[in-house]
Amino acid sequence: QAADDYQQMEQAAKYFAHQLRHHAKSSQVIDYLKGRGLSGAVVKDFQIGYAPDGWDGLLLSLAKNHKDRQQLFDLKLVNRNENQRYYDFFRDRIMFPIRDRRGRVVGFGGRIITGDGPKYLNSPETRIFHKGRELYGFYEAKKAHKQLAQVVIVEGYMDVVALAQAGITYAVASLGTATTADQLQLLFRATTQVTCCYDGDRAGRDAAWRALENALPLLNDGLALNFLFLPDGEDPDTIVRKEGAEAFSARLQQAQSFIDYFFSHLTETIDVSSDAGKSMLLKQATPLIERVASEFYREELLNRLARLLRRETSQLKQQIKAPTSQHR
Ligand code: UTP
Ligand code: MN
Ligand code: MN
Ligand code: MN
Ligand code: MN
Repeated sequence: QAADDYQQMEQAAKYFAHQLRHHAKSSQVIDYLKGRGLSGAVVKDFQIGYAPDGWDGLLLSLAKNHKDRQQLFDLKLVNRNENQRYYDFFRDRIMFPIRDRRGRVVGFGGRIITGDGPKYLNSPETRIFHKGRELYGFYEAKKAHKQLAQVVIVEGYMDVVALAQAGITYAVASLGTATTADQLQLLFRATTQVTCCYDGDRAGRDAAWRALENALPLLNDGLALNFLFLPDGEDPDTIVRKEGAEAFSARLQQAQSFIDYFFSHLTETIDVSSDAGKSMLLKQATPLIERVASEFYREELLNRLARLLRRETSQLKQQIKAPTSQHR
């Protein structure tokens, strides 16, 4: 069953890729991709495709019998209405196959080209697709590098692909949700340096703090977590196309360490010159610092906290517990 599911997903990816080249609307879709700066080579590397605007293109192409239809339904490649009629889930969308670590297609993201509807539609959870545990572009990044010196986490499919187009072939996206602990864990097994680079907007900044919170128990010695904040209104795709790969790499080099970001974020809303502010900072920072895996990082955070509170680190140390369960 499972092996067959992966085969069927691969067939779907091939179908979408084929449609991108041979559908009547092909040139219009390819023009759109070109307009976004993508070359044929990158489109091929990521096996980007096109789901035609119809009700049963994929269904007719992939399902020969009822068993196949049921399987496509289980994989959420097709939907079923109340009259038990099946129809394609993705219609008139640019298709991004999502591969698991081993390269198997487990889901899709589909971007609208024109008209109404959600900008992106993602495969719902299925028996082989668990959003919080997959990272778009991770397989492609691992394929491009024997050893991943660093990984950049971005929000969107187009960010991953646009960065790859620019030669930055080590970006992954966390599939429209907050970056989860599972996703960070996967990354820290493959690399020692992770940089979060979300959109320059409210949602992106919120996502950064949530990623930091999720990462604290995973931060062991030798691992680096950095944050790159983009100018308002920009995302990695727009900025790399505007400024180029070298400028983006320079931004990456200057990304904030999680320790800098930790205190700049907490002190954004706290006035540490007052006692009220100092006590508030202590109250907010302490439980977070206690969650950090590495003793070195806990110490470093305490030193910084002590400086802000105008205390001695040793004074603070007595109040801080080590994490109860050491993650690895
Ligand atoms: P964004 O909303 O930042 O995409 O969503 P964008 O940058 O405007 O899109 P482009 O550049 O015009 O194509 C970032 C990611 O959030 C998820 C998708 O994974 C998307 O890549 N998302 C976004 C959804 O799942 N659904 C949506 O409707 C929008
Ligand atoms: Mn948007
Ligand atoms: Mn956004
Ligand atoms: Mn965006
Ligand atoms: Mn974008």
